[in-house]
Amino acid sequence: MQSNRFSLGGRPALFKAAIVIIGFLTAAAPALGESEAYAYGKAVIAHRGAPGYLPEHTLESYAMAYGQGADYLEPDLMLTKDGVPIALHDRTLDATTNVAEVFPDRARDDGRHYAIDFTLDEIKQLAVRERVHPASGELVYPGRFPNTHEKLVFRIATLAELIELTQGMNHATGRSVGIYPETKASSWHAEHGHDFERILMDVLAEYGYESASDPVIVQSFEAESLQRLQELGCELRLVQLIGGGVGADPMVTPEGLDEIAEYAGGIGPSISRIIDSAGEVVDDNALITGAHARDLVVHPWTVRTDRLPSHAESVEALLERLLFDLGADGVFIDQPDAAVAFLREHVER
Ligand code: G3P
Ligand code: CA
Repeated sequence: MQSNRFSLGGRPALFKAAIVIIGFLTAAAPALGESEAYAYGKAVIAHRGAPGYLPEHTLESYAMAYGQGADYLEPDLMLTKDGVPIALHDRTLDATTNVAEVFPDRARDDGRHYAIDFTLDEIKQLAVRERVHPASGELVYPGRFPNTHEKLVFRIATLAELIELTQGMNHATGRSVGIYPETKASSWHAEHGHDFERILMDVLAEYGYESASDPVIVQSFEAESLQRLQELGCELRLVQLIGGGVGADPMVTPEGLDEIAEYAGGIGPSISRIIDSAGEVVDDNALITGAHARDLVVHPWTVRTDRLPSHAESVEALLERLLFDLGADGVFIDQPDAAVAFLREHVER
């Protein structure tokens, strides 16, 4: 069994404090000497890039997130027909690309175009657009990047391209920003004949990401996907995602956390598992305290400055509560600059 665990928790408090102070003194944006040495003490995870400003999962969006000071760049991953990991949230291409215009005859019976039915060559012919509701064509986030541009074309990025972009920027800046890939719909990909975890490990290994000290965290909602990675000898750190929902989830029980601690180094719960819709702390913060008791880091998702939960007065208030009042170790966010600004201000205080 591999450990797949995080290590900062074991370091002396003075060391952690020094990292924070050095980061603050030496750079406008956080400089990461080690994968978990966040300049501002908490992980800023750029959720799909910086989709608050540029269309999700595009290289342009990731470059902006990097420039805004994110610690990790997060891609959701899907596979193409020819087995190439691409940065894409949905199984289908309809909400975020012009696939229906380019390939009008390639929809399945439900009228949707599935990424797994298209080769990478075909996927690269698509233009990415800001996310819409496919049925109506209305923007999901009306205040974000408009879909009115006629000459500007964004493309779907492969995982390899995102890594090359990240490593190139790390070389140029001296930073060590990481990537935080999510295996989406692993069992569904297996049904289509793809060994997602093997493919992911091979791409990561090609770029030198093989050990727990490398700036990579792999996440999944499917425990089987993370366990499969472990079976394959993956030594990278793993995070178990936990959905929102309204009912009980075995994963948030003490027994569930015990089980997660067997194969992962952290959890990524929906914010609603920590603060409910009425703004009340769930179960006396048992999820975070229970995770920390098992040396699991906690990275909740997803903060959006333009879609805050109704109980949050401001993004700063929400981050203060999650990261400092309740003790989360980082956060997935659509506007990484908001988290960086908040954390910088917190350090100054
Ligand atoms: O991976 C964390 C968060 O992104 C999970 O939700 O649906 O945005 O991938 P989703
Ligand atoms: Ca995700």
